[in-house]
Amino acid sequence: MNQLLTNQSLKPYNTFNIECVAEELLSFNQLDCIQNVCADNALRKRISLILGGGSNILFTKPNQQGLTLRNCLKGIEKVGEDVDHYYIKAASGEGWNDFVHYCITQGWAGIENLSLIPGCVGASPMQNIGAYGVEIKDVFHELEALHIHTNEVHRFTVKDCEFGYRESVFKRRLKGEYIIISVTYRLAKKASFHTSYGAIQQELDKMGISELSIRAVADAVINIRQSKLPNPKELGNAGSFFKNPSIPSAQADDLLRQFPTMPQYPSTENNAKKVAAGWLIEQCGLKGHREENCGVHHMQALVLVNYGNATGAEVFALSQKVIDAVHQKFGILLEREVNIL
Ligand code: FAD
Ligand code: EPU
Repeated sequence: MNQLLTNQSLKPYNTFNIECVAEELLSFNQLDCIQNVCADNALRKRISLILGGGSNILFTKPNQQGLTLRNCLKGIEKVGEDVDHYYIKAASGEGWNDFVHYCITQGWAGIENLSLIPGCVGASPMQNIGAYGVEIKDVFHELEALHIHTNEVHRFTVKDCEFGYRESVFKRRLKGEYIIISVTYRLAKKASFHTSYGAIQQELDKMGISELSIRAVADAVINIRQSKLPNPKELGNAGSFFKNPSIPSAQADDLLRQFPTMPQYPSTENNAKKVAAGWLIEQCGLKGHREENCGVHHMQALVLVNYGNATGAEVFALSQKVIDAVHQKFGILLEREVNIL
């Protein structure tokens, strides 16, 4: 730990299982370590990537130039309490799913719907991770982040983070400026369950659950996810490759007349509706489509997969093919959700 290595394969560190060689790789488990890096002018200038669990990135080049910092900061702490909540601070290198599991066993509620999302705590605010009707912004209290250029630790409230659908200030205005070191979540002492999204209630019925609990909701979410999302340990992928697009309501109404089964949802944008990218891709006949080494998953068309030997460039080219097909058929331009490197 804390030893700077050169020419290291990053294949074990990205869930797409793509080969990419890091010019320099430093795994850190202490704040001091990255503060030392930031204090050293030459080293700081070489920082090119902060790596968590590598579950939302696609390497498209054979090499990652400069210094890759791999986050191994650990620790979970109860830092406060009010009448209804506990405030739980987690170091950014904690595994997200391990953290969710820990909170569930403690009886702390609010993130059970986010079970089984891969990656680290530190990336959870990056794209305001979300699933089954819950997003990080709903339980977020604050985060601490190291400003790479000044070596100062800054605090961010929910307002500072400018959360949106799969968005935050760290993906936009402050991109590349901060290393998130801890996140504090506001978890409920008494659960209010979110079971209206998708097939959760149906799954709970199937499981024979009559009395709701945090554990039961988590189990239902886990069952649904396992039934359609590929396990990265078996098939390389980074979850949804594209965002679900928001389109003008008039365009959505037009499309609904042509395609009456098209799923539509309310959008946070004005006069807009959100449509399901997976459905659009499936309608283009691409669900299960395979190129030589990569393809569109046969159970969930929003997920691109690596059959073993794909390069990032091949996966990227496939993603462009998908974008072009959807644009041609529906006039909708899909946006990539995965961070392209
Ligand atoms: P990485 O891939 O390592 O990094 C992602 C980005 O965040 C990079 O730009 C990186 O530089 C930056 N970053 C990471 N850590 C830090 C840090 N500490 N400080 C500063 N920048 C940082 N996402 C959802 O929202 N909902 C889902 O339901 C969901 N399901 C998924 C299912 C599967 C099977 C897979 C493979 C992925 C899924 N994802 C989902 C996407 C992914 O798991 C999340 O986006 C996750 O939060 C990424 O975490 P990570 O640690 O792997 O980030
Ligand atoms: N659909 C199809 N064909 C497909 C896939 C989906 O017709 O191949 C339809 C479904 O039938 C359903 C609709 O599209 O009517 C939505 O599908 P689903 O509930 O599976 O969710 P999603 O919109 O495809 C989003 C997130 C997931 C998250 C789930 C559950 C995005 C980009 N993706 O997927 O997040 O887990 O909802 O909340 O918002 C991720 O970000 O990596 C991710 C997996």
